[in-house]
Amino acid sequence: MHIVNVPLGQRRYAIKIGDSLLNRLGQECARLKLGARCAIITDTNVGRHYAKPAYNSLVRAGFEPSLIVVPAGETAKCLKTVHSCYDRLAAHRLERQSFIVALGGGVVGDLAGFVAATYLRGIPFVQVPTTLLAQVDSSVGGKVGVNLKAGKNLVGAFHQPRLVLCDLGTLGTLPRSEFRAGLAEVFKYGIIYDPALFARLERELPALLRSEPKILAAIIARCCQIKAEVVGQDETENGLRAILNFGHTIGHALEAISGYGKYLHGEAISIGQVAAARLSAALTGLPQKDVLRITALFRGAGLPEHVPLNRPQRTKLFAAMKLDKKVTNGEIKFVLAHRIGKVVWGRKVPLAEIQKVLTLEEHG
Ligand code: NAD
Ligand code: GLY
Repeated sequence: MHIVNVPLGQRRYAIKIGDSLLNRLGQECARLKLGARCAIITDTNVGRHYAKPAYNSLVRAGFEPSLIVVPAGETAKCLKTVHSCYDRLAAHRLERQSFIVALGGGVVGDLAGFVAATYLRGIPFVQVPTTLLAQVDSSVGGKVGVNLKAGKNLVGAFHQPRLVLCDLGTLGTLPRSEFRAGLAEVFKYGIIYDPALFARLERELPALLRSEPKILAAIIARCCQIKAEVVGQDETENGLRAILNFGHTIGHALEAISGYGKYLHGEAISIGQVAAARLSAALTGLPQKDVLRITALFRGAGLPEHVPLNRPQRTKLFAAMKLDKKVTNGEIKFVLAHRIGKVVWGRKVPLAEIQKVLTLEEHG
């Protein structure tokens, strides 16, 4: 098992990565010294496979769990679902020391974490991420929240989990397209922070696509370590943490204008990261060979690198980008790369430059 610690003083916690951890959920929660009553929040797909083992493990350890199953998919990450979860928690009489287990992908993690952050002004929660994306990114760092029609994650909080339990076995039932989408966040860590990881991903992509257990475990652990280092230095995104948003300004806007259904989050941020790499070549000196390496890695994983948008769609995309949380005084801020492994954040980018990368025009 790999263990990564998130160094946040009194709010520090461990990320445990290994096999068969779901069966140890109860034991692991017992070590946290929380109340007996708890709720598992999961979705219809994940619940079918993993609600029972999670529930039974908690009961074996002496807990009194209640199971809340929400619809699968991004559209469930909304205030209506939050409201229905509150009602269920109240019916099960959860108290301040009670806790929530978020069992699922990033949608469940963000939603259940937001419910935990706000119910009774905040109760503890444990993340049990079951998608690659959630294991390397969304379950770590305490960003929780839901979408509004106007944009992604516009309502949220920072609420750190008490523990993150990544059971690699759960990835066995994950649809291939979802696994590939998770790779988009994995690649991001190489681009923003770790050129050696990027080179390893280039070398070991075929093994990764076959989900070879040792390689997968080591890469997930490295991604978690990078996220832990970044979050440990800047928990509430006053600076450095912004680098984790590489490719997300365009990616989130794409998700918003397509009604959160057309692109998986990982697919949208693949397009966003390739666009950010092209912008970086024009504005921050990213060598063209690095743009090609980045594009080749996404392509090699079967991820989209570009989306053709007509003029009205581009206008909508710009409007959605302006609603992004990273906008200050109406100016859209980007994370751009100097080279693979070295990025800057908070860079203002003229709309004309964004137009060029979206239409694949050559930069002059
Ligand atoms: P998801 O939670 O929708 O999961 C993808 C699909 O796979 C769903 O249909 C789900 O039911 C299914 N699924 C999940 N685990 C499964 C398993 N083991 N077996 C079978 N099916 C399974 O999507 P996601 O890609 O995990 O997460 C995307 C969300 O994460 C977005 O809302 C995004 O905004 C958010 N996110 C948050 C952060 C953060 O820091 N909080 C970071 C990145 C992304
Ligand atoms: N996924 C971006 C962050 O956690 O900050």
